[in-house]
Amino acid sequence: MEFLEAAKEAALAAGQVLEEWAGKFTVSEKGPADLVTEADVAAQNAIVSVLQPRFPQHGFLGEEGLRHAAGVGDFRWIIDPLDGTTNYVHRFPYYAVSIALEQAGELVAGVIYDPSKRELFAARRGAGATLNNQPLQTSRFQRLRDAMVIASFPPNAKSDSSPLKRFLHVINHAQTVHRSGSAALNLAYVAAGRLDGYWSTSLKAWDMAAGVLIAREAGGRATRMDGSLLDLAIPDILCTNGTALHEELSLRLGEVESGTAP
Ligand code: IPD
Ligand code: CA
Ligand code: CA
Repeated sequence: MEFLEAAKEAALAAGQVLEEWAGKFTVSEKGPADLVTEADVAAQNAIVSVLQPRFPQHGFLGEEGLRHAAGVGDFRWIIDPLDGTTNYVHRFPYYAVSIALEQAGELVAGVIYDPSKRELFAARRGAGATLNNQPLQTSRFQRLRDAMVIASFPPNAKSDSSPLKRFLHVINHAQTVHRSGSAALNLAYVAAGRLDGYWSTSLKAWDMAAGVLIAREAGGRATRMDGSLLDLAIPDILCTNGTALHEELSLRLGEVESGTAP
């Protein structure tokens, strides 16, 4: 319980930092179309200043150059201080703070905070998921043709790349397909039943860790795209509402891989 409460406190502090920086940040490119601002770094600092004094023996992995091995025990915080930087830069209100805690490689707590809507998604392993303290449940749409699904692309994705081919193939079979710019919120929205499925082959552990736990605790399922065991170190995720939609979406995505997509 103390871990989740600390993560919530850290996420709210980071969210406040993001809103304070809005309108005054400057933008740099880490790579082509891969943006970072002072707000990313300031938000990460805010998170660390809440968590590190409380858990000095824990390890830390954060997107903005944060790497600390665990002292005693196997705890590690996995942090994306601002997921959706491109949206943030354009003032498109779909970005979030993402904080997860793993113990010996198992996700035990996760928090995603959307400061634009003041929505705090949270989960503790085995205890369900919540949005602003109200229980969450995934949607029940079972067929792709009834589903609203979403994908993430790598920054600077090209029109002839596999992620775009998958996107275009799924468009032929789903009710609606979106791209939004925040992996963490996509996963939180699957948990909340606002989206039915999500996939990506470009994520890092900090993009998905908290969202995976929140989605699973809300009844969702997260695997690799072919249905095998998810590994946060490998950029390959399919997360759905946990119905038969998972197998159908996995099949459609696989058709692009195997070259059997019409
Ligand atoms: C990005 C977002 C985006 C995904 C990219 C990520 P960032 O994270 O999650 O949805 O498509 O692969 O890098 O850079 O905004 O933290
Ligand atoms: Ca991210
Ligand atoms: Ca980020």
